[in-house]
Amino acid sequence: LVASFQPKLLAGKRVLITAGPTYEAIDPVRGITNLSSGKMGYAIARAAREAGAEVTLVSGPTALPTPHGVRRIDVQSARQMLDAVMQAVGGQHVFVGVAAVADWRVDNASDRKIKKDGSGDAPQLQFAENPDILASVAATTSLNGWPYCVGFAAESENLIEYGAVKREKKGIPLLVGNIGPQTFGQDENAIVLFDESGHTVLPRATKLELARQLVSEIAKRLERRSL
Ligand code: CTP
Ligand code: CA
Repeated sequence: LVASFQPKLLAGKRVLITAGPTYEAIDPVRGITNLSSGKMGYAIARAAREAGAEVTLVSGPTALPTPHGVRRIDVQSARQMLDAVMQAVGGQHVFVGVAAVADWRVDNASDRKIKKDGSGDAPQLQFAENPDILASVAATTSLNGWPYCVGFAAESENLIEYGAVKREKKGIPLLVGNIGPQTFGQDENAIVLFDESGHTVLPRATKLELARQLVSEIAKRLERRSL
């Protein structure tokens, strides 16, 4: 009975989340994407909403339903994701970058469908580096201390070492690591939280359970900051 009078963990907080893959066009009918299903990001959106937050989810192409009560903005490319995030970021308390953002886009995308020309030559794609969305948001944090930034990293090896280094390099207070790409599309995951005092393992569980644990870890850190 007592518990029901306790405010929810993220009551009154606004949380912005990116999820899913990005899609970088080659021409109007083809593109480059990755195997991110969006499941982890959508689970975090759901968990944050359940914890009482007002949640905005900027999503690349996925086959997932929008979690109940969550505002969802659909995008395709990394640059569209950056635009949507920067438009929504004002007034947010927390940013969680879960999206598997393409590091490069096709710089010479064609506005017409590329045709075989009969010569047997393949088209030559050129790539340009995409903007770093998490870094752009982290840069706005230096203005007034918000939002609290959480990054994700999928590493194929040396997770503990690479995770700690990536958190420092990104200049963010919390980074969530998982061993990728095995986790892509799965319903379960295991994650490692990296912060200024070291790392903590959250053992294998469903993505929703891990999302709920992560939300409470984020809430704990927000609480600590406001003391
Ligand atoms: N990220 C982003 N924008 C990008 C690339 C990555 O916002 N253009 C975010 C991801 O959403 C994730 C974090 O940065 O939260 C780490 O992504 P990751 O791909 O692991 O890091 P990179 O800096 O791209 O390094 P790597 O060379 O290992 O891919
Ligand atoms: Ca990357």
